[in-house]
Amino acid sequence: MSNQIPQVPRIKTIRNIFQFINNPIPLINETIEEMGSQTYRVHLSGINRSIMTQDPEIIQHVLQKNHKNYYKSKLQTKSLAKYAGYGLLTTDGEYWLKQRRLIQPGFHKKKLQSLVATMNQVVLEHISKIRNDIQSGNTQVELTTDLVKLTLKIVSTSLFSSGMTEEDLKVIGDSVITAQVAVIKGVRQPLLKWWRVFNGEEKTYLKARDNSRVTLNRLVEDRRKSKESFDDLLDMLLNSTYEDTGEGMNNTQILAEILIIFAAGHETTANALTWSLYLLDKHPEIKEKLLQEIDAVDLPENPGFEHIGQLGYTRQVISEAMRVYPPAWITDRVALEDDEINGVKINKGELVGIYIYGVHHSKLLWDNPEAFDPDRFSPENKKNIPSYAYFPFGGGPRLCIGQQFAWTEMILAMYHLMKSFEFTLAEGQQIDVEPLITLRPKYGMKMNVSERI
Ligand code: HEM
Repeated sequence: MSNQIPQVPRIKTIRNIFQFINNPIPLINETIEEMGSQTYRVHLSGINRSIMTQDPEIIQHVLQKNHKNYYKSKLQTKSLAKYAGYGLLTTDGEYWLKQRRLIQPGFHKKKLQSLVATMNQVVLEHISKIRNDIQSGNTQVELTTDLVKLTLKIVSTSLFSSGMTEEDLKVIGDSVITAQVAVIKGVRQPLLKWWRVFNGEEKTYLKARDNSRVTLNRLVEDRRKSKESFDDLLDMLLNSTYEDTGEGMNNTQILAEILIIFAAGHETTANALTWSLYLLDKHPEIKEKLLQEIDAVDLPENPGFEHIGQLGYTRQVISEAMRVYPPAWITDRVALEDDEINGVKINKGELVGIYIYGVHHSKLLWDNPEAFDPDRFSPENKKNIPSYAYFPFGGGPRLCIGQQFAWTEMILAMYHLMKSFEFTLAEGQQIDVEPLITLRPKYGMKMNVSERI
């Protein structure tokens, strides 16, 4: 009964190592196809015995039903924590639970209500910037970079409503990018770690991390000294207290959580928006339908959730874009003890690769999965989506804490961008995915932009 899932021969894994490093998505897809199984065993990097799965039942078991038996891998915890610090995203077990309980209330819809107008304001400033660029003759934007700037600004303003200087923002942005590069290099070129230490690369990564800590420390210290109260995420972090001790977080903890909110909270959203705009350009009839909705809605200057709720089709479009291009395309867990689900034995210490991209593209779960069809998420069709056939924000107790935050900013950004401008893919723009920690467009996403008449 146990271990009845097919296994990739070790020699094949070693032979494919460069393909895996370069772009693992086609290789995982091919393996699933060849093996005729949604789940298979593989020695990752030729060494670590692991399971890769796009089976919703196994995934639900691991992330939700038996989540207590699973921790995140070292890559998601220790390796990332080296650059971002130990916090919500990078810890497990009791410490994670303590932090989740502390921080969760700050992300509840009611709490976020006060941030909607702030987000709207940041988006409007960005719209003015694009408009000025067009007027000065810059009619092409590299969307990935541009939207990362926008979402970084939204996170920073939601944390520090009193504002962050461009210089401070750059220090934080650089350290977040550097952390990603460092972690990815660690995965893709584990044997070259000595070289990165020798050639000074590692030192540069740590320097970027230290610079961001100095900047954040100064901003947090200023806030602690201030007598004013601010209705922002930083005040929430500073004022939350642990149930057992009644005390708040110390500075190291606060800095880690801020950096993690920055890291987890901007590129994911920027990618989802970038891919949405790309897919709309490829599907004029869907774009037309979206514009009809957007043109029929007039958001007030200080919108709330009730206004955003009017943009149902916009939400469907972004949902479908995140099915086709899930910003978090994979995650993992490691079994603490032996486990079994549907006859598949998961051994203690084994890593389970949770292949979100594969689930979202599975022919067993979706009709014509490669087609872009926002109607899959219409109120009547949505009900029929099986559990864990669609989970861009993860699942179980570690479900993305920023889900509501992300939806709010994505719908606001989409509304204003589409209402104001016409985007068309630049000629010659090559399209492919680059699966790093998030799923980026490999060659960027240049678009021609003009004012909508
Ligand atoms: C489209 C946008 C986003 C996507 C697709 C996304 C996706 C995810 C996924 C899949 C996880 C779970 C990972 C796992 O269990 O292994 C996660 C966790 C997390 N996300 Fe997001 N996220 C997005 C936006 C945000 C935003 C805007 C924030 C903060 C402002 C944020 C903060 C976090 C944090 C702190 C965690 C860790 C939660 C925990 O482990 O308790 N995310 N996200």
